Amino acid sequence: MIKLIETVTEMRLAASLAHKLSQRIAFVPTLGALHRGHESLLREARRHGDLLVLSIFVNPTQFGPTEDLSRYPRPLEADLERARAAGVDLVFHPTSDEIYPAGYQTFVEVRELQKGLCGTSRPGHFAGVATVVLKLFHIVQPHVAFFGEKDYQQLQLIRRLVRDLELPVKIVGMPIIREPDGLALSSRNAYLAPDERQQALALSRALARTREQFSHGERDAHQLLATARAVIAESPSVRLDYLELVDAETLAPVETTLTQSAVLAVAAFVGKTRLIDNISLRA
Ligand code: PAF
Repeated sequence: MIKLIETVTEMRLAASLAHKLSQRIAFVPTLGALHRGHESLLREARRHGDLLVLSIFVNPTQFGPTEDLSRYPRPLEADLERARAAGVDLVFHPTSDEIYPAGYQTFVEVRELQKGLCGTSRPGHFAGVATVVLKLFHIVQPHVAFFGEKDYQQLQLIRRLVRDLELPVKIVGMPIIREPDGLALSSRNAYLAPDERQQALALSRALARTREQFSHGERDAHQLLATARAVIAESPSVRLDYLELVDAETLAPVETTLTQSAVLAVAAFVGKTRLIDNISLRA
């Protein structure tokens, strides 16, 4: 039976008990509003742990002052139903005050990887992510944790955080799950009006067209980016935030010829909704 835990103390106790019993803890941290992308993380996590912990916490410190914190979807009952179906044992669902009690003032930063891409348009976002993930790791004490590749910069940053701080947790990145028409699954897709949803397909179409060009041998960064940009320009209501070709590990921009594994990453506003997507181009 699934158990809902709302306090740090109770979660720590459950984690400590699992460690005492030599149970392996698999962990999927989320903001909730679960979709098939999260389900794929949970299914994989289920195979890796004796105790499967899901956290649902809309972390205020990773939202900017003009972002969608207050309107972020919080369908707890539906989330619990999906969690149950995916075989989750424990759902950790703390309040904001539980994670950030009065007087809270400590943040961690992953200095280089937090720059660029989403870090440029969302200042402070990755300090919020790194801090909450570190706190959640301390509370849940997982052996293995699962993150989606859709948030590619986040995944790289968490890998770095774990390496730099020597945290005893294995990070597993899971492929993007897409709708049949290519749209990458995201909790924010729920904000899209039907016409916006159609326009949003420009992102995955641009990435797919560029990958095709890459698979035909194109290695010139400018050419690859121009292809993607041209596809997005066909959808005038899609407002590009960034479109960048970056090294798959360091996230440094690839300026000339692509000789290493890279990621083509895009962020764009469709109406008021900011969407991200990416594909990897393997050398
Ligand atoms: O990707 C997310 O859902 C969030 O950024 C995370 C990792 C749960 C931290 O709040």
